[in-house]
Amino acid sequence: MSNDPLLQPYQLKHLTLRNRIIMTSHEPAYPEDGMPKGRYRAYHVERAKGGVAMTMTAGSAAVSKDSPPVFNNLLVYKDEVVPWMKDLTDAVHEQGAAIMIQLTHLGRRTRWDKGHWLPVVSPSHHREAAHRAFPKKMEDWDIERIIKDYADAAERMKAGGMDGIELQAYGHLMDQFWSPLTNELEGPYGGSLDNRLKFTFDVLTEIRKRVGTDFIVGVRYTGDEMLEQGLSAADGMTISHRLKDSGMVDFLNVVRGHIDTDAGLTDVIPIQGMTNNPHLDFAGDIRAATNFPVFHAAKIPDVATARHAIASGKVDLIGMTRAHMTDPHIIKKIIEKREDEIRPCVGANYCLDRIYQADQPIAFTTRPPAVKKACPTKLRKPPLVKKW
Ligand SMILES: Cc1cc2nc3c(=O)[nH]c(=O)nc-3n(C[C@H](O)[C@H](O)[C@H](O)COP(=O)(O)O)c2cc1C
Repeated sequence: MSNDPLLQPYQLKHLTLRNRIIMTSHEPAYPEDGMPKGRYRAYHVERAKGGVAMTMTAGSAAVSKDSPPVFNNLLVYKDEVVPWMKDLTDAVHEQGAAIMIQLTHLGRRTRWDKGHWLPVVSPSHHREAAHRAFPKKMEDWDIERIIKDYADAAERMKAGGMDGIELQAYGHLMDQFWSPLTNELEGPYGGSLDNRLKFTFDVLTEIRKRVGTDFIVGVRYTGDEMLEQGLSAADGMTISHRLKDSGMVDFLNVVRGHIDTDAGLTDVIPIQGMTNNPHLDFAGDIRAATNFPVFHAAKIPDVATARHAIASGKVDLIGMTRAHMTDPHIIKKIIEKREDEIRPCVGANYCLDRIYQADQPIAFTTRPPAVKKACPTKLRKPPLVKKW
């Protein structure tokens, strides 16, 4: 048995994970008609073959019709998603990895001309700088409907064989309720922090009624919006404790910052030239204060930094998400002592640019022309210059 901290198993409730490296939720924009079909499945299965402990699917799977698929998200409000999910989860489990999914309602973080062109909803009329939709301020019946939508979607994911779910709460509807910058409701869902958190706890309560206590449920949330008048680190700490103390949550997946502007998004998903692991200590503080399972990802591009994150006890599971887009076989190479052969992610964020700006999947949809044809027959390796 290896003594590498990264290769130690981890027990999350009843689920045993084979090591400490995960892929956090990210939408590769591979869904076809909102469903995780062949290409979607192949993408996650390859990472499972490469040894990842857990792959978290979706990235913002939509629980409601009025959360339009702004970057080709999975539509988990449809019953037809269940058999597709089952195929996906069975195939990933076969390779020894765990699999979860992130559920969300985007709230105002969307465009007006996507999906069914339904009115966008949020707890205030404030527009998001990045997407510019004009949100309708939510009414009681919107809140009631969306709480039920979350629970329906959670039930579908359990039926689809998922090991668990996480609720997205950074920049999306859930934390639009949390933040004083985006919640101008009066009554039970607006005003004090307790009231602003009520939507989340109502959602969790409904979810637990449907999936029971055994199913794994977590929250991926911002612990500090880093915005004037926004949620502070102290608010984030209070929220972390409340989530743990609710008894309805099994893990905290900590993010720091805000994503309503491109600059904010870049601090949350740092790019080339920016500091590595900028929020790891912050996540570690939440881990230390709550003594609860904490996951984290934000530019941990190399194995040494990931190893430090685990060995130092800052987090329980460490995300190497873009790193796995670049090289799906990271763990296999660690186990086989071939770390130096890992193909590194340079942080160019071509993946994000494609899904956000170009309405395209993270990678080419068709294979580039076979390089072999362009090769002189004597060369064993293809030339470095691309021909397309
Ligand atoms: C193409 C792409 C799509 C993403 N989509 C989501 C998403 O829908 N939900 C989410 O919580 N994070 C999303 N993320 C963020 C990742 O989960 C992760 O936090 C981020 O890439 C930083 O980790 P890394 O440096 O290990 O890549 C996305 C990231 C990328 C690159």
